[in-house]
Amino acid sequence: MKSNVYINHPDLVNKLNQLLSDYQIYYQNLRAFHWLVKGQQFYMLHEKFEEFYTQSAEDIDEIAERILMIGGKPLHTFEDYLKHASLKAEKNVDSPSETVAKTIANLEHLLGQFREIAEMAGDSGDEGTVALMGDFISAAEKNLWMLNSLKV
Ligand SMILES: [Fe+2]
Repeated sequence: MKSNVYINHPDLVNKLNQLLSDYQIYYQNLRAFHWLVKGQQFYMLHEKFEEFYTQSAEDIDEIAERILMIGGKPLHTFEDYLKHASLKAEKNVDSPSETVAKTIANLEHLLGQFREIAEMAGDSGDEGTVALMGDFISAAEKNLWMLNSLKV
């Protein structure tokens, strides 16, 4: 039986750690939007952001555990996340249109990373990571469609 066959794939681990870092920023941005959003769409957006960050917390756990499965170590401090993330931590964003626009931009950025990682993992025969990215891609595409439908 082949186990731990992907050990010592530092490029993939680094890429997953970058995704993990960005996901943590995304998670916290969603919490901020959940707390700060104001206006007529408050109830809907407040709930939607909670749904998104709850799912994100699970995704984050999946990514960290995948890193362990392929022989790496997940980054686990705020300090490291800030160092490795390319997403920006949003501050004082409270308008419905801006919270939605920023969530869309964050998700599109993550979607690009899912695709890059899926390709990289595919090239190294790591089907588990390809499958995980596939799940994230479908969910992100669905969420992007819903968020974009909010804009008129
Ligand atoms: Fe809450």
